[in-house]
Amino acid sequence: CIESNMYICLCKAVTDSEIRAAVEDGVQHVSHLAERCGLGTGCGRCQETAQQVIEDHLAESMSYAAA
Ligand code: FES
Repeated sequence: CIESNMYICLCKAVTDSEIRAAVEDGVQHVSHLAERCGLGTGCGRCQETAQQVIEDHLAESMSYAAA
């Protein structure tokens, strides 16, 4: 997997690697990230991208589990 450290949420300075770490702690929806680190509570523009990062990482972890 490609590790990157890119800001997904600029308002709250949350990176994609932080989102993936949250997914590993059981986060499955962008609203849980709002509680956890404030993502999406500023302008809200990051929510769609953040949800995509969550889903990609969930799919990735599931294929690891299956392998
Ligand atoms: Fe995430 Fe604005 S970029 S709330």
